[in-house]
Amino acid sequence: MRRYLLGGLLLLWACSSPERTRDTGIEYAPQMYHSIPLEPYSQLAYNPYLPKGMNAQAPVEGTVARGKMDYYYPYPNTPEGYEQAGKELKNPLPYTIENIKEGKRLYMHFCVYCHGPKGMADGILVQKGKFPPPPIKFPERKDLPEGKMFHVITYGKGLMGSHASQLTPKQRWQIIQYIRILQLGTDDPKKGLQMLQDSLKVQTQ
Ligand code: HEC
Repeated sequence: MRRYLLGGLLLLWACSSPERTRDTGIEYAPQMYHSIPLEPYSQLAYNPYLPKGMNAQAPVEGTVARGKMDYYYPYPNTPEGYEQAGKELKNPLPYTIENIKEGKRLYMHFCVYCHGPKGMADGILVQKGKFPPPPIKFPERKDLPEGKMFHVITYGKGLMGSHASQLTPKQRWQIIQYIRILQLGTDDPKKGLQMLQDSLKVQTQ
C-alpha cells in the first residue's frame, strides 16, 4: 500500500511543475524549426542568396508570363511608337452591346473626371478648376485612330497619366469602343451600336 502511495505522490509531482515541462531542452539546428521567411514584396535586409540581394526578381527580359500574352505591347513610349501604334494597332474586340456597356461603365469610373460624360473635356475636375481642360474633345476628333488611343491609355500623354495598372488590355479596348460611340454623338450604348451598324451599312453599299 505504501508503495502505491509513494508512486502516486511521485506522479503528482511530475505533473505539477508546468515551467519545467515547457522547456524543450537543447535545440539541434534551430534554424530548421524557426525559419527566416523571405517575403517577396517587403524586404527588410539584403538577401544573400539571390542576385542583386533582392527577394523578388524581375522577369527575364523579353519574356511574357503564361496567359498574359495580351499584355505584350511592342510599341515604345516615344512619339514614333505613338505614330506606329496609330497605323498598325486595331481593336481586337468585336463591337457588341456587352463590350460597349462595359466600356461605358469603365469610362465613368476612370475617365469622366477630366474628359466629361460626353467626351467634351468638361469633367468635374475641369469644372472645379482643379485640372486644365484636356485639349481634345472626342466628338471633334473622329480621325483619332484607335491604336493611338490605346497607346495613350497605356503610357499616358502630357498631363494624362498611364492607366495601364488600372485597366487590363481588354478593358482599354472596351473603353475605346465607348469613346467611338461618344463620337457618334450619343452616350446610349444601344443607340450608339445601332448608329455604328447603320454607318457601316452605308459604307459598304
Ligand atoms: C486627370 C485627367 C485625365 C484623366 C483621368 C484621363 N485623361 Fe485622357 N487626357 C487628359 C489630357 C490632359 C489629355 C491631353 C494629352 C496631351 O495631348 O497632352 C488627354 C488625352 C486623351 C486622349 C487623346 C490622346 C491623343 O492621341 O491625343 C485620349 C484618347 C484619352 N485621353 C483617353 C482617356 C481615357 C480612355 C481615360 C480613362 C481611362 C482618360 N483619358 C483619363 C486627361 C485625362
